[in-house]
Formats: sequence, structure tokens, C-alpha cells
Amino acid sequence: MKAVVLAAGWGTRLRPFTHTRPKHLLPVAGKPLIRQVLGMIAATGIEEIGLVVSPNTLELFRSALGNEPGAHIVYILQPEPKGLAHAVLCAEGFVGHEDFLVVLGDNLLGEGLRPVLEKFARERGHVVALKAVEDPRRFGVAVVEGERIVRLVEKPAEPPSPWAIVGVYVFRPSLFAAARRIRPSPRGELEITDAIQKLVEEGEPVYAHFLCDWWQDVGRPEDLLAAQERLFAALTPRLEGAVDAATRIQGPVAVERGAVVRNSLLRGPLWIGEEAEVEGATLGPNVAVGPRARVRGAHLRDCILMEEAAVEEATLVHSVLGPRAQVHGPGQASLLLGEDGRAVLKGGPA
Ligand code: G1P
Repeated sequence: MKAVVLAAGWGTRLRPFTHTRPKHLLPVAGKPLIRQVLGMIAATGIEEIGLVVSPNTLELFRSALGNEPGAHIVYILQPEPKGLAHAVLCAEGFVGHEDFLVVLGDNLLGEGLRPVLEKFARERGHVVALKAVEDPRRFGVAVVEGERIVRLVEKPAEPPSPWAIVGVYVFRPSLFAAARRIRPSPRGELEITDAIQKLVEEGEPVYAHFLCDWWQDVGRPEDLLAAQERLFAALTPRLEGAVDAATRIQGPVAVERGAVVRNSLLRGPLWIGEEAEVEGATLGPNVAVGPRARVRGAHLRDCILMEEAAVEEATLVHSVLGPRAQVHGPGQASLLLGEDGRAVLKGGPA
């Protein structure tokens, strides 16, 4: 079976971080989000992956994934942002007349993708993954009867059920014909949810796969931190950089090659990227210090520092710093600071 990964959107709700790169290339737990998604697919044994991207971002993806091991990636262009059903239609030539897996490039699942594929193998009908959520209004929502989905609606103001549509689907090739028969939604897009509703209306069986483990879609900055925390639960500790004897380590910590850590307290889960420098700092839990970032005399908890960001003498919680952003203390804050941003935090330390 082939997999199609949809990654043509920019992710405007993730500004300022998506001013300069698409959200799928933002780092989560030390890797671009898209590599985490491709890793889930690789774990199923699927080797042929069609990655749908926008012509504007093709080169960014190519350079970020150039040496992705294992999977064979075919880039597919979606010329205009006309919605997820349109993106799937762009992949029709790649898929051919076979069943196929579709994964939205910003969705992560604790259970991985094997269970949904197993459900498809048992039922031989389209399968849509679902998860009950407290506020389904920002998702597609499905109404189920037993194992079957009987109605789907995209982002309803009044959700008819708690079942949010997870961005993971296994389709039979008839999905393409259904996607061709729908009209743009109020937000002007061809919705994948409407294409599946079309299948239901035409009498094709569509089955629900109820997730048993966590689901995280990355739509807003706080989702980056939540996704990182989820992925960090499986962090493999390793110390490949130089960590001095004055540094104390608690919990799972990964320090990449070329990184230098002096006189610090590292509370895992925590990741320190290649050639980063950490000195006199208290880091973690749930912190990623990007490649070549610098942290001196700072306290960080629940933070993502992208490459070459720098924090000196400040206390940051729940913060995301873009590439080369700089924060100087001594104060404390919770910040979303884009690429090359600057902040000076006045006031005393925590
Ligand atoms: C898309 C789908 C929606 C689904 C969601 C999952 O929404 O249209 O049905 O619930 O992904 O992440 P979007 O994130 O494009 O607004």
C-alpha cells in the first residue's frame, strides 16, 4: 500500500513561526514535525510515500528531508491551496487504482498507524480514525452507529457528537471520484470531510477506527509544546556531546554530538541539539535546545528553542523561540518569539 501525506498548507495559526517556513518543518522534540509523521509511516512498513506540498515550499522540504533514511518519497505539487480533498486528488496519479493511506502532515498518534491499517484489512471498507474530544468544533466531526460512520460535518458550530475526525484515513480508490463530485465549503476549500460524506451518501461503507491512545494535531503554538511532551515520553537517553562533571542529570536526556554542557541541572525529558552550548542553566522537563543554540544562567521549562536561539539569565516557561531569537533576563516570561526576535525581561528571577 502507498501512503499520501498532505503537507501543502502553511499553518497561519502558527505565526510568527510560519512566516518563514511551513509548519511541517517546525521542530518538535528535536526533529521537524514532518519527520515525526514520516517516522510513524515508516514503522508500518509502507515504503512508498507521496508527499503533497506547495510549489513555494518544495525546496524547503527537499533540503529538510534530503537524507531521510528508509522511505522513498515522491513529491507531489498542489498548485493552489484549494483544500485537503483537492490535495488528495493531486496524488491520484501516484496512487493509481489501489487502496491507500492518507495522513495529514501535522497529526501525531500515540498508537501509530498499524491499528488503523489492521482495521482496514479486516473490514475492506474506507476507514476514518476518530477520537472523542471535549470541544470538537475546531475539527471535522463524525456521527457513528456501531462501527459505521453515518454522517460527517466539517467544523460544526454545534457538534452532533464528541467524535473528532483525526487526520488519518485509509481509502479505497473510489474516494477520488467522490472528491471530484463535491463543491467548495464556506471557507472556499474542497474538504476531505465532504468527500467522505459523499461516499456515505452513495452507500459505500465507511468504518470508524476509535483511537485508544493520545492524538495531537499541531495547529497552534501551544500544540508544538504539547506534541513535544507526548513524543518525549519515548525519548531514548544518550549523551553524545560533552557534559561536564559539575552537571547533574535527572530523567531521560539526549545530548547530541558537538553540544557542550557545563555546570547545569538537566531534568529530562530534555533534548540538546548539535553544537548547542549550555552553561549554568536549569533545563527541563520538556525542553528542546536547538542546534547551535546558547543558554547561559537561564531556567527553562516547557520550551522549544529553535536553531541558534539564545537565552541569557532569564526564566522561561511555556515558550517557543524561533531561529536566532534572543532573550536576556533577569526576568521571567512565557514567550512566543519569532525568527530573529529580541526580548529583554526586566524584574527579578523566579
Ligand atoms: C483538518 C480536517 C479536519 C480534521 C483535522 C485534524 O482540519 O479538515 O476534518 O479534524 O484536519 O487535524 P484543518 O486542520 O485543516 O483545519
